[in-house]
Order: sequence, then structure tokens, then C-alpha cells
Amino acid sequence: MKRFLRIAGLILLLASTSLGAHELMPAPAAITPGSGRLDVDAALGVAIDRPEDMRLRTAVTRWTDSIHRRTGIAVATARGMEVVEIKTAANSPELPKLGDEERYTLTIDAHGATLTAATTTGALRGLATLTQLLQKDERGWFFPAVTIEDSPRFPWRGLMIDVCRHWQPEEVILRNLDAMALVKLNVLHLHLTENQGFRIESKRFPKLQELGSDGHYFTQEQIREIIAYAADRGIRVVPEFDLPGHATSWLVAYPELASAPGPYTIERHWGVFDPVFDPTNPKVYELLDGFLGEMAALFPDEYLHVGGDENNGVDWNANAHIQKFIREHGLKNNEGLQTYFNGKLQVILAKYGKKMIGWDEILQPGLPEGTMIQSWRGQTGLADAVNHGYPAILSNGYYIDLNYSAEQHYRNDPLPANSVIPAAARHLVYGGEATMWAEWVTPDTIDTRIWPRTAAIAERLWSPGSVNDVEDMYRRLAIVDQRLAEAGAQQDNNSRIHAPGIDPKSATGGALVTLASLVQPVTHYKRGGLQPDVTQLNPSNDLADWCKPESLEVRSFNVAVDDWLFAPGALDADRATRFKTQLMAWAKAADLVAKAPAADAPIAQGRISSARTVVALADAGEACIDAMLASQPLTAEKKAAIASAIAVADKPTAAAVVFPMTSSIRLLLAAAAEPAKRDQLARDAWKAHLIATEIPLPKEKE
Ligand code: ACM
Repeated sequence: MKRFLRIAGLILLLASTSLGAHELMPAPAAITPGSGRLDVDAALGVAIDRPEDMRLRTAVTRWTDSIHRRTGIAVATARGMEVVEIKTAANSPELPKLGDEERYTLTIDAHGATLTAATTTGALRGLATLTQLLQKDERGWFFPAVTIEDSPRFPWRGLMIDVCRHWQPEEVILRNLDAMALVKLNVLHLHLTENQGFRIESKRFPKLQELGSDGHYFTQEQIREIIAYAADRGIRVVPEFDLPGHATSWLVAYPELASAPGPYTIERHWGVFDPVFDPTNPKVYELLDGFLGEMAALFPDEYLHVGGDENNGVDWNANAHIQKFIREHGLKNNEGLQTYFNGKLQVILAKYGKKMIGWDEILQPGLPEGTMIQSWRGQTGLADAVNHGYPAILSNGYYIDLNYSAEQHYRNDPLPANSVIPAAARHLVYGGEATMWAEWVTPDTIDTRIWPRTAAIAERLWSPGSVNDVEDMYRRLAIVDQRLAEAGAQQDNNSRIHAPGIDPKSATGGALVTLASLVQPVTHYKRGGLQPDVTQLNPSNDLADWCKPESLEVRSFNVAVDDWLFAPGALDADRATRFKTQLMAWAKAADLVAKAPAADAPIAQGRISSARTVVALADAGEACIDAMLASQPLTAEKKAAIASAIAVADKPTAAAVVFPMTSSIRLLLAAAAEPAKRDQLARDAWKAHLIATEIPLPKEKE
């Protein structure tokens, strides 16, 4: 099935490029190509009609700076030279809010560009489009002539960053805000408290960060900087304080508020843990009232996230007083007790003018009206919430920490055409959030998990649902990947790729970069099973950390090999030569890494065995291509050797990486086993034959 989708996608790709497709991500609601282009040269100037809008002025300066960095051309911002005009009807309020007007119109012809928006926020979205429209060809830099009428499909388009499992300092947050703005995301959800760390300064209860954070937390001053930086980019900041479970780091400071005696220490392992607040203890609400009041004043957004997920009930079950409380208050069970707790939280939040949002576990009978649900356990959570009248956002399917492909996230729609949600409840679906959980990421590697895949999620949440051509998404994803890096995202920063004993500037250092581009980290929660001893205290500086969740290089190679095998007529020998050159380059790099001295012995084992696997796969690919060109079936011995290389690649190891090139090697092996069939069978029959005879992909056990 998957293979058929890939081939169908390829045909669509050819169709869409021949129509002169655009490079924008997210795709605008409506785009009409014009004729001609606006050349970008020293005569380009930009003016805004309401210079008193400081937020817009600084955004325009960022935009002209970005053009300057990319082209070397300085854009004038003096009146009288304007070629680009920006017109807004009114300033947006200083802080963005849910439901702000984001609509804009952009027209470009040979004489100039006009960006019109009702508000500052709309103009910011239009500037992001203008940044992405800038192109270069043999005549130089230009904006294509175009008319764009754009507005978002959903008002809540978020990225959650867990700064707890692995601390993520302010600089990580700021550079990711710049990248978010480029793809029109508008909510930064900061997951600030966890078993593994309490990451926010409380001036009222300083013991919380003093004992719960290893010294790694945001000061209130830093939070104010983050909020201002986000607001300048039209992005809201929603804080999360996960309660009543996921709470070990709070209980280090306040063990007397827990449901079990303690003492507590910061959790270093990954998983679901027992520590949980005792909702029957009035002192819990004194702490939470004081703390949440302080946070409500610090974070201006109307929403405050109270978590609510994965309370396993172990410590509540073991506490006779708590069970008695449940019986005496007619609460039925632990879920009833958590709803009681949420009711208390809601009163506290309402007192401080906040609306509550929580993970889908909090959806229980009696949940206060107006509470927003963030659905993570399945699409049904989203439907359940809105069917009960609660607003909701979708995160199930947007777990970018699980290393799935951009395609999988892209196909995940909060409101697909066949949605089970009744028409009358659809307005309650506010959008979604990508979730960047931080068990396996450090400040050095987190951007590789977020970008560029989150741009595909941003498109799903901004663009019309009918924008769903996967191959065209990948074409544009590779382009926006470069724009994201120019905006400051560090997914391509190769300086994070190193190994003790290997000079990053040496040929072997370069080969490591190539090796990292050929493997992907294992998906879902498999890494914890393969590396059970890794904790928060490990360096996380391994091949599985440097590589990206989806290798766009290997994906392109796989798509091209499919196309080569199934194209009509004789096999294209020139393309075959290019494939072989590519495979030889990969094998050479991997071989250098495999033979490098290993100063970091245990970690190096995984790197070296992975490098050897790449060499074997690349050699296998070459042998199959040669067999196809010669129309000479592989010998039984060679087939067995290649099948064995694929089996080695498929086998999970402590290196915790997978080899996406096995997809084309599988197909090549099936083809090279019986090359003459390519000429004997009709194309469809040939495809069906290869799919039926290739070594099946390993079963996903999850
Ligand atoms: C979650 O992933 N526990 C919300």
C-alpha cells in the first residue's frame, strides 16, 4: 500500500511542478500566479503606512535584515523609495490572543508589492510569506508576480517544548520562535514542570526551583523576555504546570504535600512515575493558589495549562486516607478525585482571570465548562471533548519526539474530510500542537527533531484541508528547511556532530556528517527499550542523537530509484550511473567512519557497526543496479548476501538507528533477482511483482 502511495505521489509531483508550483509552506489559502517578477536590487525600498506601529516596524527591520543576509542587497526603509508597501488598518493589541485576525493580502507585480492586513498580526504573517517568496535565478534575485489572499484554517497552531527532561535554555526557545514565525505557528506551549525538573523561578516559593532544578530554570526576567520576543512575532506563550502527577520535582521541596511519605529526589529516568500531590490536603491548595497566582501574573495569556496526564493512581491507591476521602465525598474513584482536584484548580485559575487547558485525561464528568482539552492519546479524545461541548486541540499524531516522517504528521488532520465529529461541534476544534518531549534531545540536537517536520504540521493547521499532496509537500519542505536554517534554526548545524578522537575538520569528521545523514533514530518509544540505561545524566551525544528523524536525502534517493525502475522504456543508464556514484560516495564515507580510531569506545561500537551496515547496503545497491543494467540476474549467493545485509540493517541494536535506504535496496534486490521481467511485464504487473517479492519491512511492534 505504502509503495503505491509513493508512486502515485510521484506522478502528482510531476504534474504540480509543470504548473509552476510555488515554494511556500504553509501554502496560502488562495494563490494566483501573475506575470513577470519584481526584481530585488538596490532600488528596493519598503514603507509602512502607519509608522507608529513599533511592532510592525521592528518586524520589517527583521525582514530587510533577512533579505540582506541572504542576498547582500540592502533594502531601504526610507519613505519615497518604497517598492514594497505595507498597509494595516490598526495596531493589534500588544499581546497576541486566541482568535486574533491573521488575514492578509499580498499582490506583487513588476512595479512593486503591496501587503495589506487589518492588523499587525496579519502583516507579520504576510512578511513571513514575503520572506519565503524571495528567489534567485540566472537573472538575479526576485519576487514572483502573484496575488495571495490568505488566512488560517485553525486559530491555535502550536509547538510544545518540554524544557524539563533535558533543560532547554532561553537561546533554544528564542531561535525556535523565529523559526515558528516563518511557518506562521502562533502558540509556544512551555512544559515547565516535570518529574525530572522544575524549570521556572518562583519568588514566593523559591525552594521549588532551588531544590527541583539542578540550577537549570528560567528566571522571571527571562520569561518576560521570551514572552516579549514571542509577542513581537505574533506568538502566544502558554505555560504548563503539570498537576497532580508528573510532579516529583515539586515534591523534592514539599514532600509533605505528596500522597506518599517520600522523601523525593529529582527523577533521572524516563517513564511514568508514582509521585502525585495529595488532593485531600488543604495545604496543597495554599501552595497552588500562591504559585499559580504568581504565574498568572507572569504569563499574560488567557490560557494556563494544568497538565493532568498519566496520573497512575498508585500512590492514591496505597493511601487509606485518600481512599476514605474518595468514598466520603462520593467521588467514586481516582478519576473522580482528579476531577475534584481540577475543580479546585479551576476556581483558582478563574480567580486570576485564566482559562484552564489540560491533557485529555482531565475530560471526566463534572469537568468545568470552557476547559480546553489537548488530545494526545488518540483522535477519539478530540471527538469526545467537542461532543461534550469542550473546546479542544489535537496533539495525537503530532508527537515529533517519536521520529515519524513528515508525511505521517501531514496526513494527520484535526478535521479530515471523513471526520467523525458532527458539523455542529467542529467549531470547537481550535487546531493542534506539535509536541517536542525532551527525553532524547539536548539543546544541541532539539532543532533536528523540530525542523523541518514541524513545518508540515504548520501547513496542516494553517492551509485548507484540500492542500494534501504529499510529494508536493516534500518538494516545498526541502526549500523551507533552508529558510528555517536562515531564520536561525539549528537542524543543519554540523558542529553538533562529533565524536571524541575524531577531528570534525578532518575527512573522517566530514564522513561522520554524511553517515548521520543516512540513518534515522528509531521510532515511537523504542529507544528506551534499546538503551535502558540512558538517563537525564547521560551526554546524549551519539549517532542516534545527531541524525535526523527523516533523511530527506535518502528519501529523495528512494523516490528516484522507484521512478527509475518503473519508468517506461529502457532503463536510463545515466541515472543508474548517478545512483552508483551516490552509493559509492556513501560507502566511502561510512567506510572512513568504520575504520576511524574509537576514543569513545562504547558509543563508538554503535557508530562503527552502523557505518559497516551502510557500506554493505550501498555495495548491495550497486550490485543490483549493475545486474539490472546487464539484465543479468543476481547469483543465488549474491542474493543471499544482500538479503543478509538487509536483515542486519533491520535488526534493532543498541545504536538505536534505522537505515531508510533499505527501502530502495529491498526493491532493487527484488528487481535484480529477475531483471528480464521488467521488459516482459506491463508496468503495473512489474510493480505488483516487485512488491510481492521484495523482503517485507519489519513489523512495527509498538
Ligand atoms: C503526554 O504525552 N503524557 C501528554
